[in-house]
Amino acid sequence: MNKKTIRDIDLKNKKVLVRCDFNVPLDEEGNITDNRRIVGALPTIQYLLEQNCKVILCSHLGRPKGEVKPEFSLKPVAEELQRLLKKEVKLAEDVTGPSARALTENMRPGDIVLLENVRFDPREEKNEESLSKEFASLAEVYVNDAFGTAHRAHSSTEGVAKFLPAVSGFLIEKELNFLGNALENPKRPFMAILGGKKVSEKIGVIDSLLEKVDTLIIGGGMAYTFFKSMGYSVGNSICELDKLDLARGAMAKAKEKGVKLMLPVDNIIADEFSNDANVKAIQSDQIPDGWEGLDIGPKTIAMFEEELKKAKTILWNGPVGLSEFPKFANGTDSLARLLASMDDCVTIIGGGDSAAAIERNGLSDKMTHISTGGGASLEFLEGKKLPGIECLLDK
Ligand code: 3PG
Repeated sequence: MNKKTIRDIDLKNKKVLVRCDFNVPLDEEGNITDNRRIVGALPTIQYLLEQNCKVILCSHLGRPKGEVKPEFSLKPVAEELQRLLKKEVKLAEDVTGPSARALTENMRPGDIVLLENVRFDPREEKNEESLSKEFASLAEVYVNDAFGTAHRAHSSTEGVAKFLPAVSGFLIEKELNFLGNALENPKRPFMAILGGKKVSEKIGVIDSLLEKVDTLIIGGGMAYTFFKSMGYSVGNSICELDKLDLARGAMAKAKEKGVKLMLPVDNIIADEFSNDANVKAIQSDQIPDGWEGLDIGPKTIAMFEEELKKAKTILWNGPVGLSEFPKFANGTDSLARLLASMDDCVTIIGGGDSAAAIERNGLSDKMTHISTGGGASLEFLEGKKLPGIECLLDK
């Protein structure tokens, strides 16, 4: 990475503002259902504590749209941090207001304060300079460790870096190392599995990966747009009729680059969008009207597995079926189990729904790296510059 990290500057006894991505899923009672983003921030926090820093943490949670909404409070995060760090974490009642000021004014080395949800302030997402300056006035150094939010140019992720020395934390460093290495220096054969609903959302990443991979496997809702572009009937399956040219273009590019592009050969189709639907497996070019494809079929699973077993690096972004419904999770779960068994292969999971599927199968420990970024890892894989990283000091 060409950006300075917390290892590269003197932080002893400094007051440090750390932007984390504590945007964790909560259940209806407000309990955290997956704490991986909090656990991911611990190495940076622990390092700062070892340097005798006064640590001010901040994050967003959800999309409260600039309003104070108690259901988006970081209270559960403060409690979870306290449990994991075995140390008091004081939660400010506001973002940069009187409570935040009072709590951060007289901190002692080793103290930790968490500011309230930065998106309670309407200026945050507008990246308003006045808020960036208020953040900066709380500390002497800014550390960005919010990889999952690095694609957003907001006051706490980008604006504040104009007013303080700004470096990255260990989580951002780790994410860039794994994702960057996979793209730039992969052990070959290098294969990618791309799922998800829409070609329009993934075309950037398809385009960029076709420059790098040996095999590209396409699954999920996206596959039906490819099928349609090949003249297949797709019944009621999700399909972007205005994106058929993009699908054809991707197939042509794969041919030109010598990339093996693999699509499902059979699918699990359902007579309604429901876990109680009637289902059957059918060849991909024979989906009848009134039915929709919601998972890859058994022949496809076997075919994808045979290919993937040859890989030395696998990058996976997006489930290959409607994996939130157990009836249509078999394709995604089968691939998750295969990847988990491939000890000699670097397996990198690009955040979001695919990471959730791995977690649901209890296989997280078996992967080389699971990104904490959904949208951010996608934008990184597309080759886009991430503003939350661009704003940091160069090495
Ligand atoms: C995420 O969950 O992808 C990040 O926390 C960013 O959240 P956002 O999409 O609401 O900006």
